[in-house]
Amino acid sequence: MHKNLKIDSGALTLALSHALDLAEPRLANHQERVAFIVWRMGLTGKLQDKKIRNYFVAALYHDIGAFSLKEKRALLNFEFGNVDLHCVRGYNLLKNTFWLTKTAEIVKHHHKSWEWWKKESRDLIDEIVLGAQLICLADYVDRLIDRKTCILQQKKHITDEILSLTGKEFHKYVVDLFIENAKQEDFWLTLRSEWLTRLLLTDGPLRKEEMNIEVLLPVSELFRDAIDFRSRFTATHSAGVAIAASSIGEIMGLSEIDRELLEISGNLHDIGKFAIPDKLLEKKGKLNEIEKEILKSHVFYTFSILNSVKGLEKVTQWAGFHHEKLNGTGYPFHLKEDNIDTGARIVMIADIFTALIEERPYRKKLVKNEVKKILNDMVNRGEIDDKIVKLLLSNYEYVFDKVTEAQKKAIHRFEKQFA
Ligand SMILES: [Fe+2]
Ligand SMILES: [Fe+2]
Ligand SMILES: [Fe+2]
Repeated sequence: MHKNLKIDSGALTLALSHALDLAEPRLANHQERVAFIVWRMGLTGKLQDKKIRNYFVAALYHDIGAFSLKEKRALLNFEFGNVDLHCVRGYNLLKNTFWLTKTAEIVKHHHKSWEWWKKESRDLIDEIVLGAQLICLADYVDRLIDRKTCILQQKKHITDEILSLTGKEFHKYVVDLFIENAKQEDFWLTLRSEWLTRLLLTDGPLRKEEMNIEVLLPVSELFRDAIDFRSRFTATHSAGVAIAASSIGEIMGLSEIDRELLEISGNLHDIGKFAIPDKLLEKKGKLNEIEKEILKSHVFYTFSILNSVKGLEKVTQWAGFHHEKLNGTGYPFHLKEDNIDTGARIVMIADIFTALIEERPYRKKLVKNEVKKILNDMVNRGEIDDKIVKLLLSNYEYVFDKVTEAQKKAIHRFEKQFA
């Protein structure tokens, strides 16, 4: 594998969007449905392909800033007490990725009413205003849908409610685009279809796009922060694991591409934590047995999310096996050493090392001697790789300093914009 590694960009974008909606069953596929509505309205309005594509991506990530389950549920129930919080957080996350700066602007304004835009003297010709209004309406429609009743019985009252908000919440042009679609049964049936994700994948605006590693790395950094910043206790974790893994790779003399893939794997190794309620991540004191099982399931979700993307095979294994053990006592696959390659072994050790030198709700940071003892005990039990641990311990200060430096930067980003 080398620099021209090609990743299925559509599959990755959809998988990441899907991950963001995992925490709440009622929310499942919410962003995908909003993206579908936006796509359809864009086609009806005969917008340029590029514009439709960009609005589609913005729709897939529009709630990336809703960190807690409480916040997600409130939005779903039209409780808009602090609606700006998730918009601004989403903006802060996205704006650091250079090709997503417009997406960031759209996400920041996706709950702004047409009346608000008028007061700002901004019109629909402005691509940010149009994108934000399309998502605003699509999001509203999806929240009106009652998942327990037949969708065809609901189309009339949903259409009436949207019409009643014309000129207030939504510009008339945007409402017209919706009404054109709302006349068609297939529009409603697709919104409830089991094949929605597959349809977006094969026919959607991202269907032919590919991504290379230069683009994947910043995307993994964006999602690293989206995962870590959900809780103060994890705010710097993935940043630490990523640099620890790539530093170990460097000491071992691995190729540049593998070191980058190690960094990406570190950034994404806990992406399955989107499926875990934030309350559990923040819990002080011991978890009970059920809570432990739920927490452990995050790595299964990490594997599943990444496994759906062509071109990400190494990252899927390296990130998705980080809780396996060489002697088969790990989870969720209970793999044995033959099936755990060097990259996965490195991420495994980078994760343990980083966790030990971090503070946790239930304990303080550990010092070198304690870290050394824990790692050596794990080697003696046959859980982790002997050679890699030896290398790490003989370069302890080097890796420790790298991790500390990356985590300082992460905590700075967190405190400045998300705390
Ligand atoms: Fe939202
Ligand atoms: Fe939403
Ligand atoms: Fe983990």
